[in-house]
Amino acid sequence: MKEKLEQLKCEALAAIEKSDSAAALEEIRIKYLGKKGELTAILKSMGSLSAEERPVVGQMANEVRGAIDAALSEKSTVMEKAAQEAKLAAEAIDVTLPSKKAKIGALHPLNKVLDDMLDIFQSMGFDVVDGPEVETDHYCFEQLNVPADHPARDMQDTFYLTDSLLLRTQTSAAQARTMEKTQPPIRMVCPGRVFRADEVDATHSPVFHQIEGLVVDKGITMCDLKGVLEQFAHEIYGPETKVKFRPSFFPFTEPSVEVDVTCSECGGKGCRVCKGAGWIEILGAGMVHPNVLKNCGIDPEEYTGFAFGIGLDRLTTTRYKISDIRLLFENDKRFLDQF
Ligand code: PHE
Repeated sequence: MKEKLEQLKCEALAAIEKSDSAAALEEIRIKYLGKKGELTAILKSMGSLSAEERPVVGQMANEVRGAIDAALSEKSTVMEKAAQEAKLAAEAIDVTLPSKKAKIGALHPLNKVLDDMLDIFQSMGFDVVDGPEVETDHYCFEQLNVPADHPARDMQDTFYLTDSLLLRTQTSAAQARTMEKTQPPIRMVCPGRVFRADEVDATHSPVFHQIEGLVVDKGITMCDLKGVLEQFAHEIYGPETKVKFRPSFFPFTEPSVEVDVTCSECGGKGCRVCKGAGWIEILGAGMVHPNVLKNCGIDPEEYTGFAFGIGLDRLTTTRYKISDIRLLFENDKRFLDQF
């Protein structure tokens, strides 16, 4: 019987050694240690042994069971570990591989120039205000000294929505709104989109952008207007830029001027950008007309002021040497990615 046990142990250990799956191990366990297994059968037959032999064989049988048990669990640990390692190897991620580049957006060139402009005016103490794009005839024209049937209405080709509602043709509407709401001192700029029924070409668009500026206080003169606008032009275009004030006409300012700067492309010699003139017009301005002050509830005997309207689009196209204004509005990513 001892030999049988010894043989059984050898067989079992060899089978365990050779087995290659959890199922195979379980089969071996059942075959040798199960209720109907071979070791159990041997134990059951121990009744036929003598009283001296029984404990010896019993102890040996226990040892065999222990050995088989230990081998089974050791093998199963080894197999689990191998399976785990294989899984890790299969799922390994190479963290040193370069990742996909996430594309991020950028500011539109118009917004870049606008940010710079607002910086300049805010550093001079101007507030930034907002105004509606759908405006009333009242604020866009009437309050600005342009009554109905005034010939100056022909200066701007207006999109009317109703008799009294329109798409603002100029940010100047924000002047009237601001003066009605606030008593001087006033120092504000109002950037925004404006609309005119213009044909589209390389330099014209029915939608474009302006920044309105307004200063009203006691003792404001044309000198203040010139100082502020010259300072602005030098900060935007560089200190070597020359600034020219030409007499002009706007119904809401008196006197009125248009302001040119030396072409940033050719420095004033004349080139394609400035169409040979050497100068580029960037804004209209003037001293706020006394009628406008009066219309908005400010006493023109006590206060004076100046206003200006800067075209943002031309400033942007000349700064970035953009040959066609339409590029600013088409949102072609290949164009926008260059900024
Ligand atoms: N609103 C005028 C325009 O659109 C510009 C302007 C603004 C002129 C303020 C004078 C004062 O042409």
